[in-house]
Amino acid sequence: MYTQEMLDSIKKVEATRSSRIGVEPRRMDADEKDNLLREFHPDYIVSQFTELKMGPNKGEKVPLELAAALQAHSRIKASDVDLSNPDYDVDVLVIGGGGAGSSAAIMAHEGGANVMIVTKLRHGDANTMMAEGGIQAADKPNDSPAIHYLDAMGGGHFKNVPELLEKLVCEGPDAVKWLNDLGVLFDKEPDGTMITTHGGGTSRKRMHAAKDYTGAEIMRVLRDEVINRGIPVVDFTSAVEIILDENGKAAGAVLMNMETHDLLVAKAKTVIIATGGAGRMHYQGFPTSNHYGATADGLVLAYRVGAPLLYAYTLQYHPTGVAYPSQIYGALVTEKVRSIGAMLVNSEGEAFMHPLETRDVAAASIIRECKARHKGVDIPGGGYGIWLDTPMIEMIHGEGTIEKRIPAMLRMYLKYDIDMRKVPILIYPTLHYQNGGIKIAADGMSDVENLYVAGEAVGGIHGENRLMGNSLLDVIVFGRNAGVSAAAKAKKTTVGALTLDHIAKFDKELADAGIVTDKVSPILLPRYTHGNPRYEAK
Ligand code: FUM
Repeated sequence: MYTQEMLDSIKKVEATRSSRIGVEPRRMDADEKDNLLREFHPDYIVSQFTELKMGPNKGEKVPLELAAALQAHSRIKASDVDLSNPDYDVDVLVIGGGGAGSSAAIMAHEGGANVMIVTKLRHGDANTMMAEGGIQAADKPNDSPAIHYLDAMGGGHFKNVPELLEKLVCEGPDAVKWLNDLGVLFDKEPDGTMITTHGGGTSRKRMHAAKDYTGAEIMRVLRDEVINRGIPVVDFTSAVEIILDENGKAAGAVLMNMETHDLLVAKAKTVIIATGGAGRMHYQGFPTSNHYGATADGLVLAYRVGAPLLYAYTLQYHPTGVAYPSQIYGALVTEKVRSIGAMLVNSEGEAFMHPLETRDVAAASIIRECKARHKGVDIPGGGYGIWLDTPMIEMIHGEGTIEKRIPAMLRMYLKYDIDMRKVPILIYPTLHYQNGGIKIAADGMSDVENLYVAGEAVGGIHGENRLMGNSLLDVIVFGRNAGVSAAAKAKKTTVGALTLDHIAKFDKELADAGIVTDKVSPILLPRYTHGNPRYEAK
C-alpha cells in the first residue's frame, strides 16, 4: 500500500476532486507543445543519440543502444551454415508470431501460399497481446478516414508517410470488420452497435475495445485462425540472419533454436519481418510496457542486408506507466483510464494538463511536472510519479464503471492492495513504442526485393508520434497487406543460389568505418544485471 507521504498527498488530491469534475483543463497551443517537447521529451536529449557511421542510414541520428545493435557483428559466420540443404522450403516465411505476423500468415495462406511462421518465444508473445485500450477505425456516421487521417497526421507532427497513413485509415473500417467477423468480442451496445471512445489527439470517438485487454482478445482470435488453417508455427526459434539469393533478393532466413542454439535454414520465395518493437532496449534507462522479446531484431536483420530505416530516432514513451508499486514498474496503464474520465494530478492535487493531449506532449508534461516543477510524488527507492485520479471515473459514470470498462487494470492493482475505485494510482512515462522502423512501400516491401515488413518494425506510418489505437490497427492493416503482397510476389519468384555473403561485406563496412565492437546482434532477449540501477540490454 501507499507510504505516509503518498497518503498525505492523496488528501490534497481528494480535496480538489469534486471541483475538477466537469472542468476541462485547457489544451496547449502549438508553440507551447513545441517548447515543452524540446525541453522535456526524451527524443530531444542530444547526449542519448549518436550518428550511424555505416550502412544505409549512415549519418542519421539513432538512440545509443540501437546504434550499438545495428553496428554489431552477426551472431554467425557464413561457414556455420549449410545453405545447400534447407530445413524448411516455403513460399512465404513470416518472422514473428504477434498480431502483424499472424495477420500476414493468414492472408498469405488465403492467397494460396505455403506459409510458415517462426517466432522466438511462443505464438502470441508479442506487444499485440499486451495492448489494452483499443483499435481505431473511422466507421461511425460522424467520422471518416479523412478525419482519421488529419488526426493522425497532426499527432505525428506531419511526418507520417502520406501513402502509408492513407492506407491505414482507409482500410481501418474493413480491418475492424474482419476481426469482428473472425470472432473478436468487441464491446457493444445491446443492439450490437460498437462502443467507441476517444484517445489522445482524436477528434472523434473511434476507439473500439474489448474492455482493457483488446490486444489479448485480438491475439486469441488470430492465433485460433492460424491454428484452424493449419499454418505451421515454429516456436522458440529466432531468425538471426536474412538469407539473400545471388541476385540480392531476400530468400529465407537462418534460424536459431533458442534452447539448443542449433542453426536451421529456412528457404523462402518471400520473407516478411514482423518482429515488433524495441521496449526491452530500455532506451535512456526507461522501464517498458513491452513484452520480453521486444529487442529491435527486425531492424537489425533488415539493416544488415541493406534495407534503410525511417525515423529510427523517434520513440514513444507512454505517459502512464506504473510508477508504483515496484513489482509492476513500467507496466501499461491504458490511456482508456483517462479517456473515461481520470485526470492527471500533481502532488498538490492540481490538474496540470488536459488528460488527452497526444502522448508525446502528455509524457513531456508529466516529466516537467516532476523534474522542473518538483510536484511529483516520491517513490521509495528513487524516482517519482504523478497521480492518475481514477476515483473520478465512477463519480462521472457511476459505480461499477471501472469493473465493467477496465477490469484487468482493477485486478492488477488489487493484487497490491490498491483499490483504484477508491484511491488514485501513481504513474510515470514508460517506453512503449518505436515510431521509427524499416522503410516500406505501400505494398509492404522494403528496399530489399522480396523482403516485406509489417507491424511495429515498420517506420513512417505514424510519423514522429503515434496516436493510441493506431498500432493495433496498423498490425492488422499492414499485416494483411504484407501477407497478400508476399503471397502474390512468391508466385512470380524463382529463387537463385542462396548466399550469406552480406555478413562478410557488413563486417568489412564496420572495419572501414573504424567501428571496433565485440557486440553481436540481433539481441533476441534482454539481459538484466542484478544491482544495476540502469537496465542493461546487450
Ligand atoms: O494506452 C493504451 O491502451 C495503449 C494503446 C496503444 O498504444 O495503442
